[in-house]
Amino acid sequence: MKILRLDELIAQGRVAGKRVFIRADLNVPQDDNGRITEDTRIRASVPCIQMALQAGAAVMVTSHLGRPTEGDFKPEDSLAPVAQRLGELLGREVPLRANWIDGVDLKPGEVVLLENCRLNKGEKKNNEALAQKMAALCDIFVNDAFGTAHRAEGTTYGIAQFAPVACAGPLLAAEIDAIGKALANPKRPLVAIVAGSKVSTKLTILQSLSSKVDGLIVGGGIANTFMLAAGLKIGKSLAEPDLLADARAVIEAMKARGAEVPIPVDVVTAKAFAADAPATTKAATDVADDDLILDIGPKTAALLADKLKAAGTIVWNGPVGVFEFDAFAHGTETLARAIAASPAFSIAGGGDTLAAIAKYGIEKDVGYISTGGGAFLEVLEGKTLPAFEILARRAAQG
Ligand code: 3PG
Repeated sequence: MKILRLDELIAQGRVAGKRVFIRADLNVPQDDNGRITEDTRIRASVPCIQMALQAGAAVMVTSHLGRPTEGDFKPEDSLAPVAQRLGELLGREVPLRANWIDGVDLKPGEVVLLENCRLNKGEKKNNEALAQKMAALCDIFVNDAFGTAHRAEGTTYGIAQFAPVACAGPLLAAEIDAIGKALANPKRPLVAIVAGSKVSTKLTILQSLSSKVDGLIVGGGIANTFMLAAGLKIGKSLAEPDLLADARAVIEAMKARGAEVPIPVDVVTAKAFAADAPATTKAATDVADDDLILDIGPKTAALLADKLKAAGTIVWNGPVGVFEFDAFAHGTETLARAIAASPAFSIAGGGDTLAAIAKYGIEKDVGYISTGGGAFLEVLEGKTLPAFEILARRAAQG
């Protein structure tokens, strides 16, 4: 998919003196007092803003924050804390502009943050009149918001249709490159880890990956459903018996391609879901009726770690056990450390996965950590994200 990139425009001298509108994803978590608790997305958005400023552009940046009601401003919806954090990271004041649809006064070399774009009426439904007004604010539209690339909204899609020039910023471009490396043209074997509580929320991902990957490691409640499908007992563990046929279909699809879905050979169980519940390691064939499976066992973890170490590419979404409880964290930690030690190119995404990466301090050893939550999952589902589609279309129009 050919997409115009901001660095290409800069290299062609097409950015100096121009009005650049950057759609970033600055949707960061905050505590009850509005303090930012995790600023990865803001830090990840800085290079694009710096690039545009250094190239001599007048820079407008906007993002959504949460899911506010359009046209109904509440103080907690404001990007003010983000403006302050961005200012600290850029080493300059970043003024916040409200009511910006009808015009933004700005000179080259200046940067402003435009208040929460989801406060504008028509943003969510990608209203064409709103998109045209926003497009009229700029010479160049830059989408650098991978986290929102799965939404066709005014600032992620509509503005890209109507802006004189529409391109991808460095973060969006890096995500596209990493995804392409992992899924479009991967070094084999390609191993994916898809874990989480329910098959139903990740069924389309499992189905899509079953036609691409060489190994599909399932974990959490998803693994329980696959164990049931393989004829094993899972006690009172979380599972979705109505999806057994789908799980079997995934196993069969993989088998037919000479690929596999490894089923745990041992597990760690407890009688209750609690951090201090006594943990028992047992063979997968020995699960009792009142057992809860809360982690994969050490034999399974070692087998899977070997597969990860021998992989050419690894895609990771989801922890394989309740890693928040130390007694049930061994499986996730073993896999995390195997990914870190593997020579494979690895890409990881999703909130829980990022928390596991942070817990085991392996950030530098993962090939690419995606800033996308829902967007990353939709990529794994094999969908073309709207933000990519429109940028590709604009690039094809020349
Ligand atoms: C996210 O947090 O995943 C993105 O910022 C997208 O947010 P949304 O789900 O509210 O569109």
